[in-house]
Amino acid sequence: MAEAPLEVAAGLNLEEYQELARGRLPPSHYDYIAGGSGDENTLRGNREAFQRWRIVPRMLRGVDAVDLSVTVLDEQVSMPILCSPVSFQRLCCPDGEIASAAAAKRAGTIFSLSTLATRTIEEVAEYAGAWWFQLYCYSDRSVTLDLVQRAEAAGAGAIIITVDMPIAGRREADERNSFALPEGVEVANLLQYLYRRLPETGGSGLAAYISSLWNPALSWDDVDWIAGRTRLPIGIKGLLAAEDARLAVEHGAKMVVVSNHGGRQLDQCIATVDALPSIVEAVGKQCEVLLDGGVRRGTDVMKALILGAKAVMIGRPYVWGLACDGEAGALRVLEMLRAELQLDMHLAGCGSLKDLSGIHLRQVS
Ligand code: GLV
Repeated sequence: MAEAPLEVAAGLNLEEYQELARGRLPPSHYDYIAGGSGDENTLRGNREAFQRWRIVPRMLRGVDAVDLSVTVLDEQVSMPILCSPVSFQRLCCPDGEIASAAAAKRAGTIFSLSTLATRTIEEVAEYAGAWWFQLYCYSDRSVTLDLVQRAEAAGAGAIIITVDMPIAGRREADERNSFALPEGVEVANLLQYLYRRLPETGGSGLAAYISSLWNPALSWDDVDWIAGRTRLPIGIKGLLAAEDARLAVEHGAKMVVVSNHGGRQLDQCIATVDALPSIVEAVGKQCEVLLDGGVRRGTDVMKALILGAKAVMIGRPYVWGLACDGEAGALRVLEMLRAELQLDMHLAGCGSLKDLSGIHLRQVS
């Protein structure tokens, strides 16, 4: 007998999509996406920190519509909410990154394609609107260079180098589950077989992959080396210290993404929204500052923008949407966050993102 199709699941908010996705994914896939490193303090901390910033709204400002459009790295987007790179999206639906790129296009925003994607650069480019390529650096520089050149040839708008993962954070759930990719799901953009499969080690296959193939001694020399081989703007993702943001600008970055890798790398590090103000102060006039980590509500987006971010990125939430209903699910998540931000901006007396400069935040304990 044919199996009854799963009913389309629709949540009322982003957190509900996580719960719905949990019910649909095999536990080891769910744990891989949901999990953080160590005691998951950083993972929780990103959410908790947003709660400590409160908005002082303005009234009677005659707002009758809210315009969320903004320009990021010279790309006009319909809202200041972009898609962070997320690895292995075919764990969530057969189309994987093609579906999420198409959803981002329909939402009028930028999609970031992970080096660890399970669809090829060329396939995704066909379905994407504006998109960036996220780069991890392999010890064999010819492998890294091939990725950069293919992304550039396929029409990426920027290369985003993720710098907080020279080695893998210790994710205990992945060790417990012996995380590996199912048959038929591969690291699609790596040309040689060795680079396409996660080794089956009895622990985390991803940690074993990274320790055998990536450059553990990543440095600013690598950034310079990449920047010297592409005409695309470079963004640096994974910074939390103002000193590093200044170095990024000195090394030519056009954008920094304040990020702790969604709590998946160093545990016990500062929450991204708490790191944001000093980074904006250090480099906000010289380059664009984005933030990811724990953004789940329209008010989180507002807070990050009030603190000086040009836009935010979300990762897990759109992937939960993908797990619930493919492209349509990812789109619903993006549209839900847009609608929340629109509502929250109106309630705070802001008709456009410029109006946020008149809104203050207070920290509460
Ligand atoms: C990959 O980027 C991961 O965090 O697992």
